[in-house]
Amino acid sequence: MNKKYYITTAIDYTNAKPHIGHALEKVQADVLARYHRQKGLETFFLTGTDEHGGKVLRTMKDWGVSREPQQFVDELTASFRALREAFNLSWDDFIRTTDKERHWPGVELIWKKLAESGDIYKKNYQGLYCVGCERFVTAKDLVDRKCLIHQKEPEKVEDENYFFRLSKYSKEIELRIKNGELRILPEARANEILALIGEGLEDVSFSRPSKDLPWGIPVPRDESQTIYVWADALTNYLSAIGYGRNENWKKWWPADVQVVGKDILRFHAAIWPGILLSAGLPLPKELFVHGFITVDGTKMSKSIGNVVDPFELVKKYGTDAVRYYFLKEIPSHEDGDFSVANLERVYNGELANGLGNFAARVLGLASKIGKLRVSSGGGSALGGEADFGEVENEVKEKIGFAKKQVDEKIHAFRLHEAIGVISELISFGDKYVNDHEVWKETESKRREILNLVAILDNVAMLFLPFLPETSEKISKSINWIDGENLEIKRGEALFPRLN
Ligand code: MSP
Repeated sequence: MNKKYYITTAIDYTNAKPHIGHALEKVQADVLARYHRQKGLETFFLTGTDEHGGKVLRTMKDWGVSREPQQFVDELTASFRALREAFNLSWDDFIRTTDKERHWPGVELIWKKLAESGDIYKKNYQGLYCVGCERFVTAKDLVDRKCLIHQKEPEKVEDENYFFRLSKYSKEIELRIKNGELRILPEARANEILALIGEGLEDVSFSRPSKDLPWGIPVPRDESQTIYVWADALTNYLSAIGYGRNENWKKWWPADVQVVGKDILRFHAAIWPGILLSAGLPLPKELFVHGFITVDGTKMSKSIGNVVDPFELVKKYGTDAVRYYFLKEIPSHEDGDFSVANLERVYNGELANGLGNFAARVLGLASKIGKLRVSSGGGSALGGEADFGEVENEVKEKIGFAKKQVDEKIHAFRLHEAIGVISELISFGDKYVNDHEVWKETESKRREILNLVAILDNVAMLFLPFLPETSEKISKSINWIDGENLEIKRGEALFPRLN
């Protein structure tokens, strides 16, 4: 059996429509899923929505929504699901935390396991709760009594809660991160969480009284309490694959990589590992922590009114162009900025001129000379195997080097750098056309053209996880008639210039 690859993303809160930050994360994960499928791994890509908790209820109140919460989240979930088509995302499953059949049994089983380990206890607690963060905050999270992130005063909460004994696992979590069993990338994020753990992790409030927070999963055998939204949400990574329902999860767990944003690092690198250790389950292998996308240099926010609608972008510029922008212009490990001007610059410069122009040049030249005869060959790089017979050594080396580099960059989650490597291969191809003046006496340049077709075919193969539709289009233009004859079709312009 092939090796498996289980990849998850954060599940999005259904308290607003998706914005480009949500889309970015799903596109990044999609690249990893498609890449591993292309390499022949049995891949399972999971995403979904986080629908319970005070945040959803508060939004409904703020917006004056009088419908039932379930109806409210149903509508918003539909718009998150719509990202799939808009961005050509290849997720295998979509889990909702309101799914009583698929998700709730997993959460109930986790609760039971934690209780059996003696890690759930009840205590009276007073604290400040930030609904925006969905967590208790302390003095260091506040400025002028307001939450640093949400600019709102947290609520004073005095409750009897169930607590999770996270403190017990501090040392073990620290050790697993340090010895690489749980690998966190980029390293700066690993250091950030290690510093936090180094101060010692505190126990976490794991429930709220149902009278204050009815929107969630009841604590097993104590309906007077609702399970904390993060304990509910994190468990999606297990519930979706069968945990609490069947044994299928054993095939997929542990996750090979979990993709999350920098703001939810501590939930994934501290609380989640604590839950897993308490439940006797293995930790995920890797955590890929991406940065934030800003708009014209500022944080996206409803109050500023600069929230960018991902669907509008795709409608205007096309799926692959927007995917390209997210993947290339937002460094995978850091924050990056979005602006329409920059999107249009990148579109014209790198897609219309760069990739699009190179493909048009090569296919145009090759289609001019009819069938291309190769001493022996066959296959396509897209299919994992291509042999263009007598390709020059220098060209072969360049292609080989690019492939190796792209593999390395993807394994380091440096997706923008992987694209940079492919762009260099395109530049090499462009230079090759110029150096050999392939447009002159084209008929006598069959060998050179074959080299160029080999480059283009490999560019398409390398771009497949990033720009699936574009790669398929290129590949369709390169056809083997038999093991000795290639037929090249021109095809339509991949990225028509924007005016
Ligand atoms: N529901 C929680 C996650 C639970 S996971 C068990 C949550 N939801 S969220 O809707 O606020 O964010 C979902 C994901 O989108 C997170 O990984 C978050 O970091 C990411 N992003 C939200 N805004 C973003 C940007 N502006 N830029 C990039 N990613 C952003 O947190």
